[in-house]
Amino acid sequence: MKCVDDFRLLFGHREYVPIMVGGMGVDISTAELALEAARLGGIGHISDAMVNDVSDRRFDTSFVKDKTRFYKYNIHNADKSDIKFDLDILAEATRRHVGATMEAKQGDGLIFVNCMEKLTMNSPRETLQVRMASALDAGIDGLTLSAGLHLGSFGLIADHPRFRDAKLGIIVSSLRALQLFLRKNARLHRLPDFVVVEGPLAGGHLGFGMDWGQYDLATIVADVIRYVQAENLPVAVIAAGGIFTGSDAVAFLQSGSAAVQVATRFTVSRECGLPDDVKQHYFRASAGDIEVNTISPTGYPMRMLKSSPAIGDGIRPNCESYGYLLDGSGNCAYVTAYNRELALHPDGKNIAVMDKTCLCTQMRNFKLWTCGHTTYRLKDTSRPLSDGGYQLLSAEHVFKDYQFSVDQQIALPA
Ligand SMILES: Cc1cc2nc3c(=O)[nH]c(=O)nc-3n(C[C@H](O)[C@H](O)[C@H](O)COP(=O)(O)O)c2cc1C
Repeated sequence: MKCVDDFRLLFGHREYVPIMVGGMGVDISTAELALEAARLGGIGHISDAMVNDVSDRRFDTSFVKDKTRFYKYNIHNADKSDIKFDLDILAEATRRHVGATMEAKQGDGLIFVNCMEKLTMNSPRETLQVRMASALDAGIDGLTLSAGLHLGSFGLIADHPRFRDAKLGIIVSSLRALQLFLRKNARLHRLPDFVVVEGPLAGGHLGFGMDWGQYDLATIVADVIRYVQAENLPVAVIAAGGIFTGSDAVAFLQSGSAAVQVATRFTVSRECGLPDDVKQHYFRASAGDIEVNTISPTGYPMRMLKSSPAIGDGIRPNCESYGYLLDGSGNCAYVTAYNRELALHPDGKNIAVMDKTCLCTQMRNFKLWTCGHTTYRLKDTSRPLSDGGYQLLSAEHVFKDYQFSVDQQIALPA
């Protein structure tokens, strides 16, 4: 009976354990988690979501405070179009986050940055370009472009000296999205090194509509593999979403996936950035506690625990401090929804916004508990404690369980 360790992910002449720990913003996939995946010979992700804030927390910089002070005059203004990101500061924050992570890297694996293109930051092209270029400057091994895939994003870094040597990949949820991307980028003669095919059971934002339940990962992955093989493209196909055990992973590896991307099992690891009490909510969740809803202002459905404090919370938008979801005209669907409610309750008290959430603030404060569909199985991966909670796991334990387990078994912690 085969285990994941019987397979290897090939990038050029180098071999890796075919386990990629997916990016989880905002700083849920911490540097510590990514470093463990790389140390164990696989691939880890940090995320550049809200990187100015992440830098403040990691390095005691004051980027967010400074921005808040600069735009303070606008806090009560419904129009957020004034708010821009200082590109030099964005570059510095990215270089710090990536640089410090890469300096700490040990082992034979790789570390990539998950770059969510839906973070439009009131200037989508310029800010995305700075984020990608600064991560490459700081020595990141690769970039994974996700959520809201911008068909022209490779072109934004085509002049970067590392454009052809860094590993570049994209996340898609259909063969059609991959084909569109390839067509649009044909003139660059630069294929993605890998494509993560993310199915409907993943955590975070979904690349499907609310009819996500009608799709299944294995079918989409098979379509993509068939196409990549027929076209003879040297692109590693990586399956993601709902792969809970080593045996689940082996099934994908045996049918032609080059690796798997996994995340949910690591949300209850010590290295994961969620606060420990939130990890206990993940452990305790049952299937009925998880929903896919449309409260994300990005317009993509998102999976989360129904008990997330963010749901319905009508806090004042914090764009003067954050503003990562402002589109190129300075609009965000939460700002619109909040202003609608404010007009109904002009005293500003007891505002509830049910249809959208202030994603920046809520993710930053770990109040939006996004999770994969299989979260309800996490309790089977650990041991109950006498206080009703569960023992946190080490990332190494979870990684090795994926790597070596057979027969749908899950190793419990010592
Ligand atoms: C808590 C959480 C946060 C996530 N955040 C992101 C993100 O910021 N960007 C992204 O591309 N994918 C995100 N994802 C998706 C994962 O990277 C991964 O592809 C997917 O969840 C894998 O499926 P699994 O969780 O069932 O293993 C997130 C997943 C989880 C569980």
